[in-house]
Amino acid sequence: MSWRASVLTLFPEMFPGPLALSLAGRALAAGVWSLQATNIRDFATDRHRTVDDAPFGGGAGMVMRPDVVDAAMASVADRRPVVFLTPRGRPLRQADAQRYAAGLGVVLLCGRYEGIDQRVIEAHGMEEVSIGDYVLSGGELPALILLDAVVRLLPGVMGAAESATEESFSEQLLEYPHYTRPADWHGRRVPEVLLSGHHAAIAAWRRAEAERITRERRPDLWDAYTSATRYSDGRTKSDEHHPAL
Ligand SMILES: C[S@@+](CC[C@H](N)C(=O)[O-])C[C@H]1O[C@@H](n2cnc3c(N)ncnc32)[C@H](O)[C@@H]1O
Repeated sequence: MSWRASVLTLFPEMFPGPLALSLAGRALAAGVWSLQATNIRDFATDRHRTVDDAPFGGGAGMVMRPDVVDAAMASVADRRPVVFLTPRGRPLRQADAQRYAAGLGVVLLCGRYEGIDQRVIEAHGMEEVSIGDYVLSGGELPALILLDAVVRLLPGVMGAAESATEESFSEQLLEYPHYTRPADWHGRRVPEVLLSGHHAAIAAWRRAEAERITRERRPDLWDAYTSATRYSDGRTKSDEHHPAL
């Protein structure tokens, strides 16, 4: 059975959007995964198809009503995890993408306005997930981003040519830099070792570069990496590669 994504949104026409193209689009057409976008507004009960109301306690903006969201949720919910995209959530990580890819699929809830009534989030035991520390106007782009991260990990979606094994985060490190022809471009030469054909030296150079870039750019990832690979004498795996560091 294919991996199933259901999206609850006020803008179903935003799906599959960019996911109809390239790797994800081919996999969608091939039935590796399926996508159903449900309009939350279809579950409003009044004449004006109202989905939001003013916040209790006052303040700016409108809040999406729990009864309307709940009815939309009931139309798709099964054993799949339910994810509410929100800047207040845990940051989305590659490990989450791997976990979702290993399951049956996901139900994604996209907020608009100020957000969604907290009670319906809790009633459905939703995971609250953020795609970064900035505020977008709706959860649709975050949902597309989450789906893109997951779908490329589904079995058969990436060929050997696009292997995920050496990518950023797959080993808690950012990826090493890439080079292709020409070997000399405007006087900028490709690092000599990559032209050497010496596989062990190339692997060592790539690891050293991945470690250098992670250390310089992401101290948080570097700390996690070095503590995960720390030996009982306090030395780390990376000390073995660069005893002088
Ligand atoms: C204008 S935002 C609401 C922001 C909310 N009042 C707050 O300060 O946390 C509307 C919707 O966009 C989505 N959204 C915005 N930024 C996001 C982010 N960084 N990650 C995930 N979802 C986001 C959420 O679904 C949110 O309910």
